[in-house]
Amino acid sequence: KVYTDYFFDEPAYNTHDGGFVPLEEPKTPQQPLKIPELLKPDKETDTDMYYTVIAQTGEVQLLPGKKTKTWGYNTDLLGKTILFKEGKMIHITLKNELPELTTFHWHGLNVPGPVTDGGCHAPVYPGKSTQIEFKCDQPAATLWLHAHPCPSTAQHVWKGLATAVVVKDDVESKLPFPRNYGVDDIPVILQDRRFHKDNQWDYMADYDPDGVQGPTAMINGTINPYFDVTTQRLRLRLLDGANRREWRLHFSDDLKFTQIASDGGILPEPVDFTHLMLTCAERVEIIVDFGKYKPGDEVTMFCDDVPIMRFRIHEFAPDNTQLPDHLVDIPDPDVTPGAPVHKVVMSGMDEEVMMNGKKFDMQRIDDKQKLGNVEYWDISNTNDMTGGMVHPYHMHGTQFRVVSRNGHAPYANENGLKDTVGVNPGETVRLKVWFNHLGVFMNHCHIIEHEDGGMMAQFEVYDPDHPKQYKLMDMDTL
Ligand code: C2O
Ligand code: CU
Ligand code: CU
Repeated sequence: KVYTDYFFDEPAYNTHDGGFVPLEEPKTPQQPLKIPELLKPDKETDTDMYYTVIAQTGEVQLLPGKKTKTWGYNTDLLGKTILFKEGKMIHITLKNELPELTTFHWHGLNVPGPVTDGGCHAPVYPGKSTQIEFKCDQPAATLWLHAHPCPSTAQHVWKGLATAVVVKDDVESKLPFPRNYGVDDIPVILQDRRFHKDNQWDYMADYDPDGVQGPTAMINGTINPYFDVTTQRLRLRLLDGANRREWRLHFSDDLKFTQIASDGGILPEPVDFTHLMLTCAERVEIIVDFGKYKPGDEVTMFCDDVPIMRFRIHEFAPDNTQLPDHLVDIPDPDVTPGAPVHKVVMSGMDEEVMMNGKKFDMQRIDDKQKLGNVEYWDISNTNDMTGGMVHPYHMHGTQFRVVSRNGHAPYANENGLKDTVGVNPGETVRLKVWFNHLGVFMNHCHIIEHEDGGMMAQFEVYDPDHPKQYKLMDMDTL
């Protein structure tokens, strides 16, 4: 079966919102897609990996003329791709060379909160550095690192603090997937920007409480990119790294592609599509098969009707590898008998956004879950179709299962592990959630301006036999 629709409710697409900024095709020349370098470990042994991640300022030639001032991790804009191997101890020095405090949040990584997780309670002050260490104990996946200082996460991400994180393991490495990084396995970070005078970005000038957008697609920090295809099969690790934009992706000729992974790792079964919608912070890995094209052909990727990237076909060796029907087994633990059902209500638009009727407070723990329990979380979006948005709901510290949407089966590509799920207006999405680590974690809408605007809460994962106290920051102690 090949799915040809976007699954989400069409009246809820962000294109219907009054403040929507449509994409425009850039008039500047096509550029080769930037492939982020892999971050070199400072040291690696059989059991440990050591990295230094530096948040820094920079400038990049994005358009003809003046360079654009940007921020990035270990580079001018976005970052180098960071590789973790499952089973190893990871040691990271986090360095802040920015003029203001930031945090380093590992989106999708199952690590203790709130400090290792890197949310708002883990500031690294300008000129300072700090260390974290954790064991990488989750399956192969495409995760990401982004800044998370409250309430300026959106600005830090807009300036460029976001990069791909790839977890490798022995299960994924045996599957017949392309995995030659930079050649047939590439991260694709989807963002959008508006260029102002002298090619600069101006977050405040573009501010919209429902999410900042720009008319120009930027992919891996490239404007108007093309990619040279030199293999029949290409694996794209797509990440919606935009502050607010949904990406409705499809290729010319309605070329079919296959999703092999969602946020938290490989799907149990591959899913074939011609059209796919990503909401903010979601990742999907797809394999595109260019077998029917010949050298000199060009395949275009569109978002809605706007071309956003070109694939230039070159000579390639035939590769008719078929994927198995079953890829991996996904954990699906039983819900703990008698465990409470958590309720999360996302409401409002603009400045009125709230979670469970409240705005985020760094000092308030809104919910609790016992370590080891498996519990249902029911996530509702009270917007209605005529004046609402899809809220991409995200939880730190876990990879969950999507159980149902308004009592119906989840979408065909939601049978794997996820950490972010788009919730339509008027919908309740039931999740099955469990944790491997203690801590205080955040849950929020990943339209980043909604998060900064207060559609965010926090919960504690606790062990009743070993109660812990956490140092929670507030705006004054920051
Ligand atoms: Cu992508 Cu609170 O995070
Ligand atoms: Cu996160
Ligand atoms: Cu939202």
